[in-house]
Amino acid sequence: MCGIVGYIGSREAQEILLDCLKRLEYRGYDSAGVAIVSDGEIDVQKSVGEISVLESQIKKISGGAGIAHTRWATHGRPTTENAHPFISCDGKYAVVHNGIITNYMDLRERLIEGGHRFTSDTDSEILAHLIEDAEGEDLFAKVVKALDKVEGAYALAAIDGGAEEIVVARNESPLVIGIGHDENFVASDVTALLRYTNEVLYLHDREVARVQADSVEIYDLEGNHVERGTQKVSWNLEDAERSGYPHFMLKEIFEQPQAVHESLLGRLGSLEEDPFFSENAFSSVKIVGCGTSYHAGLVGKYIIEELSKLPTTVQISSEYRYSSLSEEKPLVVIITQSGETADTLAAAREASRRGCRTLAITNVLGSAITREADTVIYTRAGPEIGVAATKTFVTQLIALYLLGLRLASSRRSISSERRRQIITDMRALPRAIQDVLNNADAIESLTTRSAKSQSIFFIGRHINFPTALEGALKTKEISYIHGEGYPAGELKHGPLALLSTETPVVAICVRDHTYEKMLGNVREVTARGAPVLAIGTEGDRDLEKYAEDVFLVPHVDPLFTPIPIIVVLQLYAYYIAKKRGCPIDKPRNIAKTVTVE
Ligand code: AGP
Ligand code: GLU
Repeated sequence: MCGIVGYIGSREAQEILLDCLKRLEYRGYDSAGVAIVSDGEIDVQKSVGEISVLESQIKKISGGAGIAHTRWATHGRPTTENAHPFISCDGKYAVVHNGIITNYMDLRERLIEGGHRFTSDTDSEILAHLIEDAEGEDLFAKVVKALDKVEGAYALAAIDGGAEEIVVARNESPLVIGIGHDENFVASDVTALLRYTNEVLYLHDREVARVQADSVEIYDLEGNHVERGTQKVSWNLEDAERSGYPHFMLKEIFEQPQAVHESLLGRLGSLEEDPFFSENAFSSVKIVGCGTSYHAGLVGKYIIEELSKLPTTVQISSEYRYSSLSEEKPLVVIITQSGETADTLAAAREASRRGCRTLAITNVLGSAITREADTVIYTRAGPEIGVAATKTFVTQLIALYLLGLRLASSRRSISSERRRQIITDMRALPRAIQDVLNNADAIESLTTRSAKSQSIFFIGRHINFPTALEGALKTKEISYIHGEGYPAGELKHGPLALLSTETPVVAICVRDHTYEKMLGNVREVTARGAPVLAIGTEGDRDLEKYAEDVFLVPHVDPLFTPIPIIVVLQLYAYYIAKKRGCPIDKPRNIAKTVTVE
């Protein structure tokens, strides 16, 4: 996935690039590197590991133009040789790249035959050599020519010794240009630039731009000039920084009341005006997503079926293409917080290819999915930096409630009284979340034993079965403890064999139609000696008779229980990971946005 940045202007590029790069570290931290043009020469410095390592070793180079990169390796091990930027044999061109060049083996062989020397095992390095070989009077022309030969996904930034311009291009990987006064910036993600500018231009697929200190020109790869207005980003720098919290994840968990409030603002009713719904009638719904977004989709199935009575199925994005084609064309709902997940973009394209109408739920304005889908519901969670998704999950659920209501109104499937009640309940959700957050210390104190365990089970029924899956994902992702989410009734069909006094079980026992059955399942678990943390509804005095530990959340309509419950499970996972000293915002082996399939 990788993060790329570029700067051109009259200030010292090196300082600015390192600062911007740090805000992209969530995209990968296998290695980092920077190239600065100084007195007509390109100076490249790289190191393995996080950006702080590069920063501690870097030699100061003066110059007003440069590019930089933080890597999440796809081709070639995380070594200094494989770190970007890559430089051409003649030393005149440098390039950073995010994505995968699929035909790089062929190109590499041909370049080697033509006398080029390669210093890395990456797919990306071919770009520097192709640019060197390409015809063209300037860097821009050479990049366009080089891209003629390239297949695959890229966001790239290239410079040459002239320091007149940075040339950027994109296809299937994100790239944004930041507009300054007599200086301009490029980055994979707008959060990298917020300290310097909030005026941005998004590059679309198969576009290339010439970025100079005082101008930006965009063209498509066929050479046609593209007119594109700038956009103002309302996020501020503070949104993208930790604001005193020890981790982004904790900050983002605590931002959830606000995120839900923002996601509802002016929305209850606004989907009524979207012609997408009046012009299309659907007889079923299919939801696709990965990881946490997939779990939101699983909760969405219960929401949509209950409100609109439309049969709904949910599929992991990377499996969607293998699903059978049916006569009937469902509404395909694509959930992706980043809007850039390759598996999910591929599923969106497949859905369109199958002739389905598509609706995306995403958090990122201008992201690739917003161009793929027929219509979009934006979650308004603000930037999410922690690799573990928290506030984007909760706001995805809000979008699904809104969608469920909208589909229900087309189909007249709920009474106006129920509709009014749901809207009132939704407005009360920020307060319910805040109540849970106010008791974060109590949740922390419930994690002492779990932090020492090797495996934790999460069980729930009905709409809280996916909540259990999401609790398990949070735990494994950030604490490295094996977490397993299960429908509570299914434990006795096998997994009970894994339980012992050393295996904590978190049981979601809210007061809905699953309650009695959940109590039965808790008994099965305690009979095997496993310690149980039961999460119930306020006022429930019976639970403590069944479970060793109890945490109660505010009462909400059963349809909304996943929201306060997941906040408990997010905090539970967070405090376990903290006790274990894990790198919470940047877990090993994974990255925030997965732009490879
Ligand atoms: C969530 O904690 C994970 N980091 C991951 O499962 C994530 O939800 C998944 O990669 C999908 O990302 P997206 O929502 O940006 O498409
Ligand atoms: N393929 C490039 C590399 O391995 C970039 C990886 C990416 O963007 O994920 O260095």
